[in-house]
Amino acid sequence: MFQAFVLVGLVADSQKVRRLACIAISSLLENTDKTIAVQLVLQHDVYPLLLSCCIDGDEQVAAASSEAIRNLAGYEEGLGIVLPASTSEATHLGNIAEKCSSLGRVRVLALIVRLFSASRSVASEVSRSGILSLLEAEVRNTNDTLVTLSVLELIYELAEVEHSAEFVSKTSLLQLLSSVISNDAADSILRSRAMMIAGRFLSKENAFAFIDESSFRSVLSAIDRRFDFLESQAADECECALEALGQIGSSFQGATIVLTTAPPTARHIVKAAFDRQQHGKQLAALHSLGNIAGENRTGNTVLLNSTAEDTLRSLIYDEASKTSKLTPSGLLLSVLQQDSEIRIAGYRVISGLVARPWCLTEIISKPEIIALVTNTHRETHKIGMENRHRCCEAIYKVFALSSKLMGDPAFADMASKLEEAIRRGPYGARKHAEAQPMVVTADRF
Ligand SMILES: *[C@@H]1O[C@H](CO)[C@@H](O)[C@H](O)[C@H]1NC(C)=O
Ligand SMILES: *[C@@H]1O[C@H](CO)[C@@H](O)[C@H](O)[C@H]1NC(C)=O
Ligand SMILES: *[C@@H]1O[C@H](CO)[C@@H](O)[C@H](O)[C@H]1NC(C)=O
Repeated sequence: MFQAFVLVGLVADSQKVRRLACIAISSLLENTDKTIAVQLVLQHDVYPLLLSCCIDGDEQVAAASSEAIRNLAGYEEGLGIVLPASTSEATHLGNIAEKCSSLGRVRVLALIVRLFSASRSVASEVSRSGILSLLEAEVRNTNDTLVTLSVLELIYELAEVEHSAEFVSKTSLLQLLSSVISNDAADSILRSRAMMIAGRFLSKENAFAFIDESSFRSVLSAIDRRFDFLESQAADECECALEALGQIGSSFQGATIVLTTAPPTARHIVKAAFDRQQHGKQLAALHSLGNIAGENRTGNTVLLNSTAEDTLRSLIYDEASKTSKLTPSGLLLSVLQQDSEIRIAGYRVISGLVARPWCLTEIISKPEIIALVTNTHRETHKIGMENRHRCCEAIYKVFALSSKLMGDPAFADMASKLEEAIRRGPYGARKHAEAQPMVVTADRF
């Protein structure tokens, strides 16, 4: 029965029939004894037919066949079929890609990314087979913006995979991304995507274990250089650049590098973070500043080494001195007086920065800041309420460490305001006012 309809189905004219045949193979692979299933696939030479479906079928056929191929690669014996050791095999993905139209090649590349995402062990084989270089080759060799963009989207998917940092270090993808970012003649959208992808790769928790510092620096210097072109135009690209810097700066080592390049790449973030004229840029920059300040880090990874910390402090004091606000506390207060999106980012910045004694001093020098962050009626949306509450906790945590401050009657009112705001929880006064059980019931049934 397997031979009869499946083999004919895979080469049928009807896309529906081809799709069903691919699904039948997936189901065979999932539900039959794996040795028998893989034997059948081999015996009937099914794999080349699946590959054709992947390359020249319609979108649904391609999706169903790449699912079947992914299932096949999940078995050790199957993986040998999908990633043959010999590059002279006709079904070697490198040979297939070479013969395809550019649309077909994008399908092959999508299949490679799909395999890479399947598991760490399949990713390791994909990496060892060298076929990740097909992705780079496609970006290098095409002048077609749309094709480049689709391949960049695939590389973005790759960057989202948990185990990607380990394998990207064995390719020249990061150098390629740096060169796309540096290409002034490229479409702005390509540079923007390349920045976001590089940021994704370099923000991985284990990025520093696998990717050497020079790759970080080359991406940062490519992004840094673009700011010279981005001052007045290309707001979208600028937001992407700021976001990518924030991604890179979210880890302890990443933040250290962003602050210790010469000149520090972080200067672009601090400058945009307090510029009220450009909302999108300001928002992106504030989140990035929150990341660099360590809002997402814990314990002894919040504070950086003294060189990086000195730079962070002087960037912020310098920025303040250039504005009418004059002090960091003035800058932070003005952020908290803006719209809710900006305030949410502002709470993150304060939560991170307040771990520095200079910042705590700035914050307690402005009772208006404490009044705003402890106002439980201020925020009306969940994320705002939660970030505001976390901000109170972060300030109080540092405040309470100082017996001098805790014992000073001048700060007693501030301390009790913070305690009260923390006690009330993120949703504060609203907790009892809202008809929560109704919502829960409706959601559940
Ligand atoms: C891409 O463009 C460059 C410069 O315009 C040209 O030299 C090259 O041949 C083009 N490549 C392709 C594949 O069209
Ligand atoms: C940092 O934390 C925020 C929530 O506070 C989260 O939305 C964001 O994705 C985190 N960013 C990183 C880079 O971990
Ligand atoms: C801080 O780290 C940076 C980057 O690794 C390094 O260049 C600098 O010398 C360090 N500073 C100190 C005081 O250790």
